Amino acid sequence: MSVQEHRRLRELASMHFQSRCLHEACERGLFSELERSPGSAEELARRLHLHPQACRMLLDALTALALLQEREGLYSNAPIASRYLIEGTATDQGEMIAMYRRSMERWEKLAEALHCGHTPAPPSEPDPRFIHAMHCTASVHAPLVVEAVPRNNARRLLDLGGGPGTYSIRFLLTWPEAEARMLDLEPVVSIAQEYAEIAGVNERFEAVAGDYLESELGDGYDLVLLSNILHCNAPEGCQRLLKRAFACLRPGGRVVIHEFLRDGSLWPAVFALHMLLSTPGGDTYSESTLKGWLHEAGFGEPVVSRLEGTPSSVLVAARS
Ligand SMILES: C[S@@+](CC[C@H](N)C(=O)[O-])C[C@H]1O[C@@H](n2cnc3c(N)ncnc32)[C@H](O)[C@@H]1O
Repeated sequence: MSVQEHRRLRELASMHFQSRCLHEACERGLFSELERSPGSAEELARRLHLHPQACRMLLDALTALALLQEREGLYSNAPIASRYLIEGTATDQGEMIAMYRRSMERWEKLAEALHCGHTPAPPSEPDPRFIHAMHCTASVHAPLVVEAVPRNNARRLLDLGGGPGTYSIRFLLTWPEAEARMLDLEPVVSIAQEYAEIAGVNERFEAVAGDYLESELGDGYDLVLLSNILHCNAPEGCQRLLKRAFACLRPGGRVVIHEFLRDGSLWPAVFALHMLLSTPGGDTYSESTLKGWLHEAGFGEPVVSRLEGTPSSVLVAARS
């Protein structure tokens, strides 16, 4: 075995060492504390009520991970931590990091899922923390999604399972004459409304409670957005969603699918397992599978855009 081969396997096997450092640092508010004022390991241990030697070890690990900087025993945040790991700021990614921390419990059930093909059903009520975590990622990806969709005079948008509403909100900020209706489960609606209010688009944004597989959706929409929704559903659910999207669009209206396409790359492949562990029947799907379902639902050939630097793609298909 070469040194490189061994290193590759060792790093893969121990990636949770690094994840856990980040999780705990966020959980303890370490980056926020250092943003208030840089300090030595002993000072930080005192301020955060940690064991001094253990705190120094964590600080050194975070420095090696390039999240902190250390000069003459004084630790401070690296730029990425200052920008994205400070609690209460608009760009804080802490909820996203906490979500992956919580997911470790689900991943403990992988052995069971590999045997029986599923895990115990996740809670039916969406967790507000998950919705805020969706916003963390969406706030970074939404400009790319909007850029991938030509406006074509679209005015009426329907966002199915819109979560925090971040994608709809970005469409509204970019297209000042558009209005959006978002449908999600009851506890999510007020969260999306708050984000719309913060963005100043609440007068053109309506969040309604409902089930995207069953509820009345209305009709005559110019655009139906399915962002990160299909991977939460089994194939039958996806086909149903696409047929429902088709039915509520005006002729010439378009469906926009934002998804991780299963294409042999790493994230969509491991995310499929994450869906196995987190949803009843979710999976990631290939471009050709989605194209087949779009055609079956009556849509024309989609335009597919890879979103540079992300694991996501956007498919735009018109109701002919
Ligand atoms: C993975 S999140 C995606 C959120 C958002 N579209 C995005 O891309 O950030 C899935 C969303 O679908 C919602 N959802 C799940 N099942 C639903 C259902 N049957 N009807 C409506 N919304 C549902 C969840 O509450 C959650 O907000």
